[in-house]
Amino acid sequence: MIGIFDSGLGGLSVWQALHDALPHESLIYLGDGARCPYGSRSSAEVRQFTEEAVERLLAEGCKMVVLACNTATVVAIKYLREKYPNVPFVGLEPAVKPAALTTKSGVIGVLATERSLQGEHLRRNEERYGSTVKILKAVGEGFVEAVEQNEEQSPATEELVRKVVEPIVMAGADKIVLGCTHYPFLREVIERVAGDGVEIIDSSEAVARRVAALLDENGIRAKESAEAEYRFLTFADEAYAEKLKTKAFCRIEKKKETIK
Ligand code: DGL
Repeated sequence: MIGIFDSGLGGLSVWQALHDALPHESLIYLGDGARCPYGSRSSAEVRQFTEEAVERLLAEGCKMVVLACNTATVVAIKYLREKYPNVPFVGLEPAVKPAALTTKSGVIGVLATERSLQGEHLRRNEERYGSTVKILKAVGEGFVEAVEQNEEQSPATEELVRKVVEPIVMAGADKIVLGCTHYPFLREVIERVAGDGVEIIDSSEAVARRVAALLDENGIRAKESAEAEYRFLTFADEAYAEKLKTKAFCRIEKKKETIK
């Protein structure tokens, strides 16, 4: 069983990548739901909530934990790796490197929560690439709430996206990095607003590759004969757990439709 954690529904974008890439692995998804969004909370709060979630996932018997939340990764992954040295952890970080290495215009945008934009990983990438590439950072104001309310397709959400994305595109960006796991749910709108010349980059598939490599390194990959089970937990109520499940399987169905 692999544990996946997020403040809410966003980490389901990572859940989907794992579901697709590792069909024999059982997944247990914990979406806090009661205290989402995390992005503007203090580091101490986010660290405490993340620790509670990880304890819960380990109590369920998880062999590995994926922090499918950039915000939780920024504040808690180092601490958790020290606290649980025998548990393999995978975190989420904005994919600045591939964007910086492939931009033609020399300008990239990074969208993330307030807390994530202050993270060490991003700062290091800015030091590494900032002299050759202009890195424009912006908070996706209201994006997490829109996804939590299943409002991805509404005109009000498109307006929110336009407000954040348009200035980045006007400034010449040809890559936009999604540094929050909720944002891939808005991918269609972001693509529409950004226009054809802009590539949207998210980390879910890279994370699935990292998880696969770590399973092999640790010799804990599920057997090919294993039938995967999918469970959804929350710190909110039963209705929220149902919402997680529905949203997860809707995404799988939607992907099947686009492949057809
Ligand atoms: N989905 C999370 C992230 O990747 C957290 C969003 C939030 O709760 O603010 O940052």
